[in-house]
Amino acid sequence: MDVFSFTNGTYRGIEDPEVVLLNRVVYFYLLFPVIVVVASCVLTSPYGMLANNVPFGRVPGKLGWVVMEAVSPLIYLLCFFVPSSTQSPQPTIAGYFFLGLWLVHYINRSFVSVWRSPYRSPIPVVACLCAIFFNTGNAYMNGRWVAVFGEYPDLYLTRPNFLLGTVLFLVGFLGNIRAENVLMNLRRNYTPGKDKSKYRIPRGFLFEYVSCPHYFFEILEWSGYAVATNSIPGVLFALCTAANLIPRAVQIHRWYQTTFKDYPSTRKAVIPMIL
Ligand SMILES: NC(=O)c1ccc[n+]([C@@H]2O[C@H](COP(=O)([O-])OP(=O)(O)OC[C@H]3O[C@@H](n4cnc5c(N)ncnc54)[C@H](OP(=O)(O)O)[C@@H]3O)[C@@H](O)[C@H]2O)c1
Repeated sequence: MDVFSFTNGTYRGIEDPEVVLLNRVVYFYLLFPVIVVVASCVLTSPYGMLANNVPFGRVPGKLGWVVMEAVSPLIYLLCFFVPSSTQSPQPTIAGYFFLGLWLVHYINRSFVSVWRSPYRSPIPVVACLCAIFFNTGNAYMNGRWVAVFGEYPDLYLTRPNFLLGTVLFLVGFLGNIRAENVLMNLRRNYTPGKDKSKYRIPRGFLFEYVSCPHYFFEILEWSGYAVATNSIPGVLFALCTAANLIPRAVQIHRWYQTTFKDYPSTRKAVIPMIL
């Protein structure tokens, strides 16, 4: 957890320009949650059901999701092969395990889930570019940490934080898929021309408690990754995910409440019984 001790540009006493770069990226991702939360007070999250009047054109929904998400596994994977000026990546078993978690999540997000979706609304170009920018830096700092600069001895796999974090990650991953299945089924039953809106009230599973259980599980998943890796880049990704998805969930919740007069009044936005 000593990424902040890299500020003098050295790693284990050796000067390395990449350490300076990694530090700058980390500081940017420290600011990111603050920027997103402040922006969410004046702007709506610009895609899907909240994407009204966003300028500069749109890309087809499925293509957009593949492009903006696939950069993440690609860059994380590259981090395992490209040397810095002083270090060659020498990942341990734990490092490869984290690579596996990252790839499983992003192969599902970029390809499997897109392929299984009956339809995705076109995405504003602005939102797509922001996501590519975010995913590039995020995959870089997390991949580099796990492959090169973090310390994960073989016995790391027996540590309680590793085991707890992995369980949280898997529960979050599976819960997210189950919640997305509910939304996909709603969309499959939509008949253009007959139904007034392509959006309906989701029911069942954790939707009885919150409007956005897929976001709840996504936050759980990356919190698990942060606990398992015990790393500042991991913690920053979990914070960015929460900063991104909690305000969007609140906006979606309000959208449901104003759009559907019979929207269940006991439902919260994203955290059961709390928010
Ligand atoms: N880690 C992060 O920072 C981060 C950021 C963003 C998203 N994500 C994850 O990416 C996944 C997709 O996120 P998202 O923001 O696109 O979710 P979303 O806005 O809830 O939409 C997900 C899909 O379900 C459809 N849908 C949503 N509500 C519906 C309803 N009431 N009736 C029928 N169809 C509905 C959407 O259709 P349309 O396309 O027509 O809107 C879209 O295809 C989620 O699992 C989320 O957790 C992660």
